[in-house]
Amino acid sequence: MNQYVFKSNDTDETMQFSENLGKKLQPGDVITLEGDLGAGKTTFTKGLALGLGIKKNVSSPTFTIIKEYNGRLPLYHMDVYRLEDSYEDLGFDEYFEGQGVSVVEWAHLIQEQLPEDLLQVKITLGEENSRMITVIPKGNRYEILCKELFT
Ligand SMILES: Nc1ncnc2c1ncn2[C@@H]1O[C@H](COP(=O)(O)OP(=O)(O)OP(=O)(O)O)[C@@H](O)[C@H]1O
Ligand SMILES: [Mg+2]
Repeated sequence: MNQYVFKSNDTDETMQFSENLGKKLQPGDVITLEGDLGAGKTTFTKGLALGLGIKKNVSSPTFTIIKEYNGRLPLYHMDVYRLEDSYEDLGFDEYFEGQGVSVVEWAHLIQEQLPEDLLQVKITLGEENSRMITVIPKGNRYEILCKELFT
């Protein structure tokens, strides 16, 4: 299993990294975000939205589960932290198979509902504002994407 690591020293570096990723995304791409409370999952999504040309400020969708934004491609921003149970189906499939880009915070909570191919992003807290961003591609599309992103 290939994995790639980006070390971020502050909020801006995380957003620049995810903005760059956002620029390379295609319809139907799925990105899962894992990491403790305050790790930077929503911050990462904000950068990604910039890369998708989204002008509206992306905020935490904690109480709505799914928020949709329009840019170069639609962004479906999901935060499943408060989902009642992991089998509750809010029509995730239609988002994952749609023409937009899906980003899921706390994705492991809906493990059973995730597609096989996706880009897994794990953020761990380091000293002060540093973060370790580990990116694991699942499937060919995402392998190629990572090679582009990390070379
Ligand atoms: N290197 C960094 N990368 C990302 N965020 C950072 C970094 N350094 C500091 N921060 C700060 O950490 C906070 C991360 O909050 P954010 O809401 O993005 O986390 P989250 O993982 O989405 O949390 P939650 O689990 O509550 O959804 C922000 O205030 C951000 O500015
Ligand atoms: Mg968040």
